[in-house]
Amino acid sequence: MQETSFYIKAYGCQMNVYDSKNIIEIMECRGFVRTLDPKAADILVFYTCNIRENAARKVFSAIGMLKSSKTKVIAIGGCVAQAEKDEIFKKSSLIDIVFGPHVYHKLPDYIGQILNGEQSKILDIGLEKFNKFEKAQRKNDVLFSEFVTIQEGCDNFCSYCVVPYTRGREYSRAAKDIISDIRYLISNGAKEITLLGQNVNSYDGDAAYINIGTKGNTWKLDRLLYEISGIDGLKRLRYTTSHPKDITVDLMTAHSEIPILVPFAHIPIQSGSDRILKLMNRGHTVAEYLDKLKMFRTICPHMQFSSDFIVGFPTETDEDFEDTVKVVNDVGYVVSYAFKYSRRKDTPASQMDGQISEHEKEGRLRMLQDSLSRHQIHRNNSLIGQVHSVLFDKCGKKENQYIGKNGYMQSVVVECDSNPIGEFRNVLIESSGINSVSGKILQK
Ligand code: SAH
Ligand code: SF4
Ligand code: F3S
Repeated sequence: MQETSFYIKAYGCQMNVYDSKNIIEIMECRGFVRTLDPKAADILVFYTCNIRENAARKVFSAIGMLKSSKTKVIAIGGCVAQAEKDEIFKKSSLIDIVFGPHVYHKLPDYIGQILNGEQSKILDIGLEKFNKFEKAQRKNDVLFSEFVTIQEGCDNFCSYCVVPYTRGREYSRAAKDIISDIRYLISNGAKEITLLGQNVNSYDGDAAYINIGTKGNTWKLDRLLYEISGIDGLKRLRYTTSHPKDITVDLMTAHSEIPILVPFAHIPIQSGSDRILKLMNRGHTVAEYLDKLKMFRTICPHMQFSSDFIVGFPTETDEDFEDTVKVVNDVGYVVSYAFKYSRRKDTPASQMDGQISEHEKEGRLRMLQDSLSRHQIHRNNSLIGQVHSVLFDKCGKKENQYIGKNGYMQSVVVECDSNPIGEFRNVLIESSGINSVSGKILQK
């Protein structure tokens, strides 16, 4: 019998990367064969992101570009699917299956039902919680640096954000399942693990131990980190993304006590204006945020941070925006990400008066990015002369050139005769650019 091939494209955050790897695994276990050529594929799977309008729009242009005479089934999954529901079928008649981020384990069955003519259109945006994790038993393509989802969903309801609607309420995976996934990944070659969650530091043992069945234990993020750090063979541990209000002293202490836990955290502030933070429903002030970073650096002196920023939130004035630039200058982030506010359907902020023009947003975005770049250049420059432990994961453009990441997620480039990919090496930093630093590998 001829094999049925599928092509998958994922957009958006690291959690989507993680989900799409699980989808590949589930599809392959059911006999579908992955192809990297969309034009040769029988099935096209798009795993989507709805966070900003342009992220959501991308998928519809991609369908037109990637389908071919060979395409038999088009499936749209992930956050756009969850948010748009059956509206998606109206946007493109080519789409056969719409599946939310909680039910991807059912995709092979749905594809089967379309292929054998049992159904003509399928919509599933159910909110099952743990089934998808149980169905995906990763077997192939384990990378040196791997992601593991520990928590999903968000209860914070920031007024601009779609995530609480697309990923649902917060829930945490059982610690025993997370640990067994990580053991498996390490025994198959992974050396670095990044724990993922929309709100990773609200990881909640109560929800987890119901699944484990051992009462009396609490499993917050810090405890999970201590446990995971004891797994043999794991060389570096990270987590992302944190919410400022959920950063605890216990977590800060974990950073100072666990050698393989990087001295780095992504803690988005979004805006430097208390008035805007309130309208955003962030649940903290600028001073509370800065105090936490200060305490973090007292407990763990090498700690560095990155952040996300939104410019042009409804009613943001020049003064509010200048307060954001001030936070950037005060904190000195290693890297940061700035976005223009995007008006998302059904979020409270989309109904607010005082929406800012695209022109104004673009101007503010450029200014903020200039400040962030200046800090990044300064920070990269200050690394010259330091020795960093780097996990190499890809080749550079030039011959004998290799690229890896240090503990602060910065790209480090070296030239050397023997291929270091998959290895940690100590690198002496010798020069710096905006987005990377270069150096030489020190002999052990
Ligand atoms: N849970 C994480 C962020 C997840 S979304 C947190 O709260 O930190 C990633 C980033 O996208 C957010 O930090 C925010 O900066 C940005 N974002 C979310 N909604 C947005 C919107 N409507 N417009 C522009 N940027 C947005
Ligand atoms: Fe969105 Fe706010 Fe939740 Fe982050 S914390 S996912 S920005 S609602
Ligand atoms: Fe996008 Fe959904 Fe992630 S909206 S950022 S893919 S959680």
